[in-house]
Amino acid sequence: MNDAALVLNPYAKLVAERSGDSLAAVRVVAPIKGRHVTTTTFFRDDRRTVTEFLWGLVQGQPDLQPELDERELGDLVGAGLLVAPDAVPEMPRFSVPLAIAPEGEAALDESWMVHPDLRACSTQELPAVFAAGSVVQVPHLATRVSLPVWLDADTAAALTPGEAPRSLSPRQRSALRRAGVLVSAAEVAARRASSAELGVEPRARFAENAYWVVRGLIPGRFADALADHYRRVIAEGFMHFKDQITESVYSTRFVKHQEPVAVHVHGQLAALVSQIAGKPVKPSYAFVSSYEPGAELARHVDRAQCEYSLSLQVGYAPDRNLSEAWPIYLDTPAASQVPVSLRVGDALLYRGRQLPHYRYRLPEGHRSIHIFFHFVDQEFDAPLG
Ligand SMILES: [Fe+2]
Repeated sequence: MNDAALVLNPYAKLVAERSGDSLAAVRVVAPIKGRHVTTTTFFRDDRRTVTEFLWGLVQGQPDLQPELDERELGDLVGAGLLVAPDAVPEMPRFSVPLAIAPEGEAALDESWMVHPDLRACSTQELPAVFAAGSVVQVPHLATRVSLPVWLDADTAAALTPGEAPRSLSPRQRSALRRAGVLVSAAEVAARRASSAELGVEPRARFAENAYWVVRGLIPGRFADALADHYRRVIAEGFMHFKDQITESVYSTRFVKHQEPVAVHVHGQLAALVSQIAGKPVKPSYAFVSSYEPGAELARHVDRAQCEYSLSLQVGYAPDRNLSEAWPIYLDTPAASQVPVSLRVGDALLYRGRQLPHYRYRLPEGHRSIHIFFHFVDQEFDAPLG
């Protein structure tokens, strides 16, 4: 190891643990590129030099030339605090670029207009992990779920909500149409004429069975962008890895609690979930989970913060169209072992505290990426996390 080349991992967090007035230990929590987030505790009683070096860092007095021996430096590399320059993790930035239409795609009719409820986002309201650019929120005409779309500055300048787009090529128009940015006057009129957003069936069926499948909750291109983002987040080491089945049902999977992109989407889903649940709900917490080959989910019910759980299928490998091959099972009041199969972009809303749910073993070579969006009743007053 070339010690001189080691640098501090900018994403490492240090937590001092005290015993009375004195330092007892320092915990290092760090993402490790190519692996996952690790937690290592150095106790002062048996690792005095290392803990004092770490204590200096906690106090903002980094001594980058401590008298650490090879073994101590190796332990700090193992903990993810010191890394070689080419192993410094990089936080991936999320974006959903417009898919430019293929050459020769039919030009759009001039009657398309910019979505009347399109809203430009200010930088302050977007998570730091969002890529730079002009971001607009586009509400889906049927579900009213708003999702972000990244535009270049010229395209953004050509768009005024409710009006025809200005000076865009047919291919740009076509891409904007596919992203839901351009809509037809007839679609908008049909939407406004419809008083019930989703119709009565979802609410009635959810009240009866305690679950409902929302097909096509998010478009495929958005799901693919999320899946690609989470694969990069995993590759850079920013997720935790759980590899044992415990009473809390963890299995072979990478997980991230309150991941910022998921948190952003979470806020857009409360209105839809409230409609299906038949009462106002609020987000509690979001959880990203990438199940790895061999993963299982033991039969369980969820905790109080998961009164309504919306499980979104974000990605599946090797073939995203195979995602239905790994169903979740629900034990409902009416029947046990009800399989629910989701395609990428579909979501299952279920009462996580009421319905036991589980999954059997994920085949070798398969990976399945999900976001769990949890909601509680508006009057819920316990901690949300
Ligand atoms: Fe669960």
